[in-house]
Amino acid sequence: MSEELVYHTPVMLKESVDGMQIEADSICVDVTFGGGGHSREILGRLGKKGHLYSFDQDEDAEKNAPDDKRFTFVRGNFRFLYNFMRYHDVEGIDALLADLGVSGHHFDDETRGFSFRFDAELDMRMNKRGGETAADLLNNAPEEKLAKIFKLYGELNCSRKLASAIVKRRATSPFRRINDLLEVAKPFCPPQREKKELAKVFQALRIEINKEVESLEEMLEQAKELLKPGGRLVVITYHSIEDRIVKNFMKSGNVEGIVEKDFFGCVKSPFDVSKIIVPTDDEMVKNPRSRSAKLRIAIKKGE
Ligand SMILES: C[S@@+](CC[C@H](N)C(=O)[O-])C[C@H]1O[C@@H](n2cnc3c(N)ncnc32)[C@H](O)[C@@H]1O
Repeated sequence: MSEELVYHTPVMLKESVDGMQIEADSICVDVTFGGGGHSREILGRLGKKGHLYSFDQDEDAEKNAPDDKRFTFVRGNFRFLYNFMRYHDVEGIDALLADLGVSGHHFDDETRGFSFRFDAELDMRMNKRGGETAADLLNNAPEEKLAKIFKLYGELNCSRKLASAIVKRRATSPFRRINDLLEVAKPFCPPQREKKELAKVFQALRIEINKEVESLEEMLEQAKELLKPGGRLVVITYHSIEDRIVKNFMKSGNVEGIVEKDFFGCVKSPFDVSKIIVPTDDEMVKNPRSRSAKLRIAIKKGE
């Protein structure tokens, strides 16, 4: 079977869907549908009266949508979770799953520009219908902004030097393709760590292009409002930036991570937080993309 046919291999499938504690009549949301692996597992656990709303901003994902009366596909950004739910007359939800970031399909599709394995156009947009491409960003962003993106989202030590080299190169020859970026970035990567460092460069650009941090923060705030008491927030993260946001949010109930304490010094949070779960050794061998995954579960406290 070709990799394209696989679209995406779901990560921590059982652990994450177990964490949603689905009942026959639950109203569930999967904000990151992708290949639909998690969504199909959720549907398998719902009864006739349950319903699943699944979001994806990438039109490629919609082709994987199951034909099921208990299922609604929402082609949109999960940062508008609250409005989409109101549009569908949903006032409260029992469980929400977010399996963050890009899918295997994004890395394996030679035309999307997410992977340095292929010389594609520098695009990197999950939603191809609009917004700035990676080429636009590299050709137009001020040097300071580029350096900040590489530092914050790629945690790269060479962020300033790389930003300066990008600005120098674009003065004579604008960025169009992956190879243009590789020419500039490779000299900053020690040969023994080249792939890891390039992965960080690409991760940083992808996070900025898709406004992943802002979308995550906005979605979490809205999920807090929509979850019913006892409702479950289940999130799988793949890098330290998003994991820090989710961890702080679950602990404090706000994306700033500001912890409030009561008179007795106990942390006041709208959530009870479960232990962090990581993939088994077996899963990491079978699905190398799961290696960096972390699963966090929070339960909305009662009124
Ligand atoms: C890691 S994949 C999810 C894979 C899925 N759980 C499965 O089993 O196939 C993440 C998916 O979420 C989508 N996505 C990421 N950020 C999004 C956002 N802000 N709004 C809507 N969809 C988003 C991506 O397009 C991608 O298809």
